[in-house]
Amino acid sequence: MNIVIFGPPGAGKGTQSNLIVKKFKLHQLSTGELLRKEIKDKTNLGTQISSIIKTGNLVSDKIVGDLIEKYISNKIYKNRLIFDGYPRNLIQAKNLDNLLEKYDQKIDIVLKLSVTLQTIKKRILERKKLEKRADDSEEIAIKRFETYEHNIKPVIDFYEQSNLLKVINGEATITEISDEISGFIESIKGWL
Ligand code: AP5
Ligand code: MG
Repeated sequence: MNIVIFGPPGAGKGTQSNLIVKKFKLHQLSTGELLRKEIKDKTNLGTQISSIIKTGNLVSDKIVGDLIEKYISNKIYKNRLIFDGYPRNLIQAKNLDNLLEKYDQKIDIVLKLSVTLQTIKKRILERKKLEKRADDSEEIAIKRFETYEHNIKPVIDFYEQSNLLKVINGEATITEISDEISGFIESIKGWL
């Protein structure tokens, strides 16, 4: 079982991935978290990407593609990955298909969390009080939303065509969303 979860900033990708990981014993692969770790550890890559993240733009497809391949190629995670925040554009969606095929895997389900910009602003400003993310100001949250809107339409079309897409109302409560996602996962036959 490999799952893709996507949606705008603050949609609940991380929150829901966490719950799925616990319930179904999968591994969460959040490209945003991997990139933030590079910045925190002050690696060469971290220095290179820090200013891009702060402005709410996308890091290059090559950089994130290389990061995810490390996990896809690792047998420990084979058919146990939840992609949180990847893909974000059509190039990445196609790259993900190619990488999974290369390592004899596939995507089983794609979850899209839909939320309004108003909700996003509220959630991100709340989270800012608890976590110190460099990109969690209102201005950059709006910019991240615009980046998402600008790139995501072809990704939605791509997954609609392959019949994998489930659209979820991200405005519901965390538990309601989690129950809905669990239902989708459990309905896939022979997922283990
Ligand atoms: P990333 O870290 O993925 O950030 P994002 O997409 O902006 O999403 P967030 O992590 O802010 O939100 P989330 O959907 O995970 O929501 P969460 O569960 O935390 O990416 C950061 C940056 O890295 C990008 O801007 C880009 O620069 C770069 N990057 C990452 N991936 C890349 C890629 N593939 N290609 C290129 N660049 C890439 O929830 C938010 C808050 O709301 C929490 O406080 C939570 O408790 C609360 N909440 C969640 N669900 C609910 C609910 N149902 N009701 C009420 N509150 C809720
Ligand atoms: Mg997140």
